Amino acid sequence: MRRYLPVLFVVGCGDDTTTTPKNPEANFPRTFMWGAAIAGFQSDPGCPTLAPEVCEDRASDWYQWVSDPEVIASSRAFVTGEPLANGPGMRETFREDFARARDELGLSAIRLSIEWSRLFPDRAAEGATTVDELVAFADPDGVRYYQDVFAELKRLGLTPLVTLNHYTLPLWIHDGKSCHFDYDGCVDRGWLDRERIVPAIALYAGFCARTFGAEVDLWATLNEPFATVLAGYVLPSEERSHPPGAQLKIEDALAVLVNQIHAHAAMVDAVRAEDTIDADRDGRPARVGTVVNIASFFPADASDPAGPDAARHASWVHNELFLEGVATGRLDENIDGVLEGPYPELVDRLDWIGVNYYTRLTVTPFAAGLAPGYPWLDFLPSLDGGFFQVYPEGLYEALALANRFGVPLIVTENGAVDPGEDAAETFLLPHLRALDRAMSEGIPVEGYFYWTLVDNYEWNHGMALRLGLYALEAGTKARLIRPIGQRYGEVVKARGF
Ligand code: FCB
Repeated sequence: MRRYLPVLFVVGCGDDTTTTPKNPEANFPRTFMWGAAIAGFQSDPGCPTLAPEVCEDRASDWYQWVSDPEVIASSRAFVTGEPLANGPGMRETFREDFARARDELGLSAIRLSIEWSRLFPDRAAEGATTVDELVAFADPDGVRYYQDVFAELKRLGLTPLVTLNHYTLPLWIHDGKSCHFDYDGCVDRGWLDRERIVPAIALYAGFCARTFGAEVDLWATLNEPFATVLAGYVLPSEERSHPPGAQLKIEDALAVLVNQIHAHAAMVDAVRAEDTIDADRDGRPARVGTVVNIASFFPADASDPAGPDAARHASWVHNELFLEGVATGRLDENIDGVLEGPYPELVDRLDWIGVNYYTRLTVTPFAAGLAPGYPWLDFLPSLDGGFFQVYPEGLYEALALANRFGVPLIVTENGAVDPGEDAAETFLLPHLRALDRAMSEGIPVEGYFYWTLVDNYEWNHGMALRLGLYALEAGTKARLIRPIGQRYGEVVKARGF
């Protein structure tokens, strides 16, 4: 029996995972979930035969963001304008893709998202004040689609891990285009409008829990809340830009973060209230967690005496603020490293943490500060090198950081861009060694989900960034297994390497 011990959090320690003690259980326990992660907006579009208006989710803010000609033309939006038709089309092909994941790779789990705007495309849904009332506004085709998806996963014996909100919002609650061009005057302000979005997203979460709870045990509220903050309200860039693509709105960015903390808590309450059906596969109650992206921060100049503090503060803001809010119910609204609370409406609302890990980032001290009144906003992140800088030890560091909060962990995303012939050796195995090391030291990690199964629509990049275990062949939409997919399948089947 594996024993879980608390591990100290270290940032930027650069440990060598090659000296890792071997995990005796070949290296991973039988119950460990091996999966691939997808998200509806990215994997649904591009259906081989379904009509585009059925295949694509046209009622979402992200549909507008990547397809509206004026947004595409905006130099501040950084969207490529790639047609969604070039995506993998899993809205139609999910059965074959899930079968492939199980039969070829040996996976036991799939992380996927439900799209709020597919279930509630119409603004009228906002009139509902209870889940009972909301039922009348659900789109029957949307409900049937997810019922089919969960039935298929069950048939194949694949465990679903369901993200309730993977970035996208219905247009009726977030008009990203209007806010991009008229930030102060736009009406449907998404995450900025706590009074509207928190009750609405909680009702949606409750609806999902009631409707699909018999098939789902593992729920995640939000995906990467800090990405929404950074790429939407602070630093939209070619690397990542989210609607509304506003720059350096520091106070609003913090409000968006805090509003997402409140949304998480309200969504957890709603899921716990509604997903009381334990007739699913293991009879266990549903568990609700959240998914954060954790990066390793380093000073750009190792000899700068102010560097370590800058890296520490960057980690605090990027990695820890949201987790403190959802795990301990405490907030640091003026970013000075001192937490206020705990607030009763936030505490005790986290069953597990999903860790997305991709990159290390460097920061430069910036004594003048990004905004007055926020003492720890005294660093400038560098986007040089991008968001996919391979640093496998960072996965260990990310898990050690998340383990501070005392709940089980799941690696909900980890993946490489354009994985070539040697990507298993240079990317996959070093990351799995870091994971093995974390687990050997007692960090309770329940699963690993590779991002992603098949190349998909990578947000503002369109198809320009490809991360699939399977390459998507343009035109034919054939799925061609990459060497990293082959090797991942071998690791999964052997439960180790
Ligand atoms: C993460 C997102 C995921 C995908 C990967 C590459 O930030 O959660 O949807 O875009 O990056």
